[in-house]
Amino acid sequence: MDPIRVVITGAAGQIAYSLLHSVAKGDVFGKDQPVELMLLDIEPMMTVLGGVVMEVMDCSLPLVRNVVPTADPMVAFKDADVAMLVGAMPRREGMERKDLLKANVKIFKAQGQAMDDVAKKTIKVVVVGNPANTNAFICAKYAPSIPKENFSALTRLDQNRAQAQVANKLGIPCNDVNNCIIWGNHSSTQFPDVSYATVKVAGKELEANSAIKDDHWVRNDFISTVQKRGACVIAARKLSSAMSAANAIVDHVRDWWQGSGDRMVSMAVWSNDNKYGIASELMYSFPVKTAAKGKIEIVNGLKIEEWQRERMDLTCKELVEERDAALAECEE
Ligand code: NAI
Repeated sequence: MDPIRVVITGAAGQIAYSLLHSVAKGDVFGKDQPVELMLLDIEPMMTVLGGVVMEVMDCSLPLVRNVVPTADPMVAFKDADVAMLVGAMPRREGMERKDLLKANVKIFKAQGQAMDDVAKKTIKVVVVGNPANTNAFICAKYAPSIPKENFSALTRLDQNRAQAQVANKLGIPCNDVNNCIIWGNHSSTQFPDVSYATVKVAGKELEANSAIKDDHWVRNDFISTVQKRGACVIAARKLSSAMSAANAIVDHVRDWWQGSGDRMVSMAVWSNDNKYGIASELMYSFPVKTAAKGKIEIVNGLKIEEWQRERMDLTCKELVEERDAALAECEE
């Protein structure tokens, strides 16, 4: 099988350090799919990145056919099949995501332009660097020759956090919880929703709400715990989530590449095909299904109640504001 070319940006950073081994040993693209790893970081990080490259080599993994460290986006994105855009300035304690926008959005403009010039038109892109949804929007905008459907932002970490909260509440394993949804922005306005989730308790498949039997928790503590989880990790570690973020990137790209099956998963995607009344031209997190190596399909038609509507609209409003601020920043 021919190798695929996989770009990881921020390759000298902490998320990439947790991510590389999984990508290199076949957890994402399958155990028989060889990979070429294109590792992009900024010039001052090239010595550190050199050490990471040595470690990747020293894992002696048969699927790794080539490892290229570079500070040049035109080298990194050349003929790329997949890009995991992790590189950005991370949020530190006390910093709001909006402060990050100014610093980070231009990185994604430049990377979009480089992809437009040299990547395959079929490239699949997941943006992780924050503000992830808006960075993905900017990246897609500045890569006009690549379909918008090929871009996404990571909200799988939020979905995994939501699943873990439900599993913990019911005392069941996480893989007995399915179809938790994240609506909207990867920020504190995100709306984690268990309305369509199912759980397996004592061998029986149940609706999550009827197993949890605690509407107050579902509409309050559960939501705020998931919304604030990233900030809590930063407060404790003084660094943002890295292991769990890398794990979520693996889940997101694996499901995109290999198909999500019957499960709904959450991904922030181009909003134009949604039937939920969410504004067009946003990277909004929806429930989606993916066919192997195929298009991401928004799962439309779920019944929405008034209390859900309010939360979906609130996070949409934030994304519109972020998008407009980012566009203004890029046009300066
Ligand atoms: P880190 O600081 O350890 O690594 C970031 C790396 O990006 C550094 O090596 C830096 O030199 C590099 N970088 C900066 N500008 C770059 C550019 N123009 N091109 C290529 N590389 C560049 O940060 P960490 O912890 O790995 O986090 C990375 C990003 O992921 C942050 O923006 C963080 O907020 C975000 N994040 C997103 C999550 C999500 O669920 N969407 C979850 C956790 C973190």
